[in-house]
Amino acid sequence: MDLVRQYRAIQREIDPALREVIERQQFIQGPAVKRFEKNLGTYFEGAVGVGVASGSEALVVALMALGVGSGDEVVTTPHTFYATAASVMRVGAKPVFVDIDPATMNIDPALIEGVVTPRTKAVIPVHLYGLPADMDPILAVARRRRLHVVEDCAQAVGASYKGKKVGTLGDIGCFSAYPAKNLGAFGDAGFVVSTDAALAARMSQIRDNGSAREEKYRHELFGYNARLDSIQAAVLDVKLRRIDAWNARRREIASRYSEVFAGLDMVLPAEGKSATHVFHLYVVRTPRCDALVAHLKAREVESRHYYPIPLHLQESLRSLSYKAGDFPAAEEAARTNLAIPLFPEMTQAEQDHVIKAVREFFKRS
Ligand SMILES: Cc1ncc(COP(=O)(O)O)c(C=O)c1O
Repeated sequence: MDLVRQYRAIQREIDPALREVIERQQFIQGPAVKRFEKNLGTYFEGAVGVGVASGSEALVVALMALGVGSGDEVVTTPHTFYATAASVMRVGAKPVFVDIDPATMNIDPALIEGVVTPRTKAVIPVHLYGLPADMDPILAVARRRRLHVVEDCAQAVGASYKGKKVGTLGDIGCFSAYPAKNLGAFGDAGFVVSTDAALAARMSQIRDNGSAREEKYRHELFGYNARLDSIQAAVLDVKLRRIDAWNARRREIASRYSEVFAGLDMVLPAEGKSATHVFHLYVVRTPRCDALVAHLKAREVESRHYYPIPLHLQESLRSLSYKAGDFPAAEEAARTNLAIPLFPEMTQAEQDHVIKAVREFFKRS
């Protein structure tokens, strides 16, 4: 992707927004953060938005606000970015994995109830690559077994499930604004949203050293510094106005890929009837993905293998005692998947070049 292109397109709005923060010198919890949080509220149709320092911190703050901690278990997917499970470890709880649905690469809702114990406090579905997880059955299990639902929306800002934006379906939605995300800051940043105003207020306090700020140096909740920087908030506020248009463009590009790649010997991204995918990544699957990466590289097309080591096999999570073979669908996805270039500013000529290179690979073999 080319972030410079995106910056040039909105520089006229970004530069004055940054200058305003600099002129005011209110870098911490200043007006830029408040404005962005207010606009998140509008974007998420009434849910309350709270800025935090990153997507990883969003997950930690969410789990802390829900009281998840030592001795608790949290069910999630092994096919995701490391931070999903690491956040559970950071609050002293234990991630419990279940396999993915091979069709969507998201958590398989049918497997959740089988691992629920009296210690299970929450489930973290991840809307991976921009595709919403199948939320209805997940919410149904959560209701039945009294579990909190923390949506990991790091890759899915603006995606929706049955007409509702992801992040507003469970108790809390956690978002990353890492620069390469669909809504990316100029550094690390993130935010949480919740339709429960009291829960949002707790998160707002936790990310600011547990203080509600009405009374300085009074810390009612256990918290730490996970605040969103004002400079990042100013950038995100400008970009938030464009996110739906950028996502629409991503969907257009994805739809062209899916049209022209139909019939090639690879699995294309699923969309599902109830979900609007925002294509943070366009991920295909083929057993020959290494050869395809090499073929594309020789033609100056960058492609990336996402999460080659599933979380249950990560060295740093060895204490969880999982082994190879525990989650066959996740292991298969990790072996075979590959993201090809897709970003809103991509030109038709660039997309043509990618398409030609991919087709050539399958024609030759
Ligand atoms: C699914 C998922 N969860 C969590 C995170 C963590 O976000 P951040 O990098 O902003 O800490 C990411 C970011 O890469 C992610 O993709």
